[in-house]
Amino acid sequence: MQDIFKNNSAYQIYVKSFCDSNGDGIGDINGIRSKLDYIKSLGVKYIWVTPFFCSPMNDNGYDVSDYRNVNPMFGTMQDCEKMISEADSLGLGFLFDMVFNHTSTEHEWFKKALDGDPVYQDYYLFRDGKEGHPPTEWVSSFGTNSWEYVPELGKFYFHLFDKSQADLNWNNPRVRAELKDIVKFWKDKGVKGFRFDVLNLISKPDNFFADTPKSGRAVSFCKDGPKVHEFIRELVRDTGISEMFTVGEMASTDIENCIRYTRPENHELSMTFSFHHLKADYKDGDKWSLMKPDLSKLHDIFSSWQEEMYSNGGWNALFWCNHDQPRIVSRMGNEGTYWKESAKMLATFIHLLRGTPYVYQGEEIGMTNPHFTGISQYKDVESLNYYEIMLSRGMTEEEALAVLDSKSRDNGRTPMQWTSGKNAGFSDSDGGTWIGIPESYKKINVEAQENDPDSILNYYRQLIKLRFDYPVISDGSVKFLDTGNSNIFAYERRLKSQRLVVLCNFSGNEEKISNIDVKGEILIGNYSGSHKIMQPFEALAILEK
Ligand code: GLC
Ligand code: CA
Repeated sequence: MQDIFKNNSAYQIYVKSFCDSNGDGIGDINGIRSKLDYIKSLGVKYIWVTPFFCSPMNDNGYDVSDYRNVNPMFGTMQDCEKMISEADSLGLGFLFDMVFNHTSTEHEWFKKALDGDPVYQDYYLFRDGKEGHPPTEWVSSFGTNSWEYVPELGKFYFHLFDKSQADLNWNNPRVRAELKDIVKFWKDKGVKGFRFDVLNLISKPDNFFADTPKSGRAVSFCKDGPKVHEFIRELVRDTGISEMFTVGEMASTDIENCIRYTRPENHELSMTFSFHHLKADYKDGDKWSLMKPDLSKLHDIFSSWQEEMYSNGGWNALFWCNHDQPRIVSRMGNEGTYWKESAKMLATFIHLLRGTPYVYQGEEIGMTNPHFTGISQYKDVESLNYYEIMLSRGMTEEEALAVLDSKSRDNGRTPMQWTSGKNAGFSDSDGGTWIGIPESYKKINVEAQENDPDSILNYYRQLIKLRFDYPVISDGSVKFLDTGNSNIFAYERRLKSQRLVVLCNFSGNEEKISNIDVKGEILIGNYSGSHKIMQPFEALAILEK
């Protein structure tokens, strides 16, 4: 079963920003259809597309009001069916994004609950407060209290994210049955797999309202809850998706649970997204601070996740970027002098590890953060909330904007840069696009890189192909090596008599390696130097036979 994802890579589309087919400034399904050949040309087999279901869009589609219908902003069900079948004929399969921890408060279940229907109230987590206060002072992921009061009912409901995203009660078998039906609905339409949003948050603690601490981050009390493995196994079994490509997004999880989620004999998921490596630039765990990535921490996180998942039969999703993350070249590379080198180095590091790599739209051309200068340019609910929170903590507007400039989710959400022409080739709109397009599109775009053999784009294509061609990459063991230099990360992959050594210089300086000797064929690299002295952001993969 692992054969379907071991040697494959996946591409992620953020539909709102991928390609606009009708000139309204918003990406859509027909836009995706028009770019399937491009995606095919990358060499990936799977496409994860973020939610395009009916939604009031408070969290850009992660607040679903109808799981079985297409948001008219993005197209029609017919467009969606065509998208699936056209992809199929190109050998591409879609992973649809199932947001099952919560629904929008516009969902009919929630509306019925508000109308007083006790059956639907039990779909959610309604509780009494205490003397007008919420049951706990837990903070939601978007910065506000995680309880919202409903005056008509005299009760609070629980939400881990925005107050318009009400958490579902997974302990209720009717809820689980409804969600299984939604999976089956899309499976019957021909999708090839699923991405499950924040799946490790679905099982709330047994002592949810009793003896848990009364304040803190709500997510920290709800991650990897008591019945989460049972719920996932049941969902997978009853929908018949255990042989399909499945990936669960796991918030604040740990290695032990991710091994359980992904060991084939557990019949849960193909792989998990975990995020610890993307917290190496959080000062004291706080995302809303400015800090250079701590490379030794980053190194330790990768080595322990890679080696422990491997030795216990788990499987990793490998990624730097998605719609919730700033652009990786801006974050860990160098947007200026070493733009190309650092983009290729970061790609090499991720793509030759053990797991299944994901490429997020625009990453393959080295897209950078947009460097917005005013708060009105930001659209994301989390960014707008935290801007206010940062000001209330005493930061100046300038300081708060500097944090958003490096941390906002909108950094990864600007339109895909296709050409150097109007609206970066993303849209024909004369009225602007839903979010601004960074100036960098004139230099960084698909058109400019398509036929350049040395481009970042063509380097990604090579990396994706290597995984198909070399079983040592798809199947080999993994072990991190000590380079004697904290700026250089090194790991080896082994399969039978083959040994692949990957060396990556994470710094913008020339760096020396003292203690690694390797001789063989250079499989891929972004310089042609010696591996003893590594150039700024050099990456080198050497195959020993
Ligand atoms: C996931 C999504 C993110 C969303 C959140 C709540 O983390 O990737 O975009 O805001 O879940 O659904
Ligand atoms: Ca459109």
